[in-house]
Amino acid sequence: MERIVLATGNKGKIKEFERALAHRHIDCVPVKELCDAPEPDETGTTFMENALLKARYYSEQTGFPCLADDSGLVVDALDGAPGVYSARYAGDHGDDTANNDKLIAALQGIENRSAHYLCALALVYPDGQSVTAEGRCDGLIQDEPKGEHGFGYDPYFFVPQFGKTMAELDVDAKETISHRGKALEELMQQL
Ligand code: IMP
Repeated sequence: MERIVLATGNKGKIKEFERALAHRHIDCVPVKELCDAPEPDETGTTFMENALLKARYYSEQTGFPCLADDSGLVVDALDGAPGVYSARYAGDHGDDTANNDKLIAALQGIENRSAHYLCALALVYPDGQSVTAEGRCDGLIQDEPKGEHGFGYDPYFFVPQFGKTMAELDVDAKETISHRGKALEELMQQL
């Protein structure tokens, strides 16, 4: 594969993909370095619809194979919220602090803290062909933040397998168990 364009402006995702794709000797470039097309509206009702929509759009804009990730946090006690709205749970797109504050407030007094991350990946080629994959990572939401790595909800997302929050895991450890790492591995198996 010549080169993959990463169809995301999220710095946390870019860091994880750059590292994971480098392990696989695949060259990648964030879309913002290639074109300044406005971001498409994420009008899908599922992670996969949004991933396909973003990858198609940027593949048409750049003429390169584009990899898009749509992902989020699904909390059982909140009927699946924030779900596909994870990035804008508290209103502004990508305001991690406000999103986390809203999440912890919503869970006050609730004992059931089980949650999972989901990631849908879509790789779309300029001729319109696509390959897709999904990954999931289970955990528990804790009240106090811990750790400096990762992004988004990671400081509050406790991973029982490691006895640590996702934000306490470095980028390589996160890749081995994360929704994104698993989805990427599945996508690679298909290529
Ligand atoms: P998207 O860019 O529309 O797919 O939104 C993704 C949002 O889901 C992010 O802004 C985070 O709030 C959340 N999210 C997705 N993956 C992760 C992760 O690996 N760690 C923490 N939060 C994540």
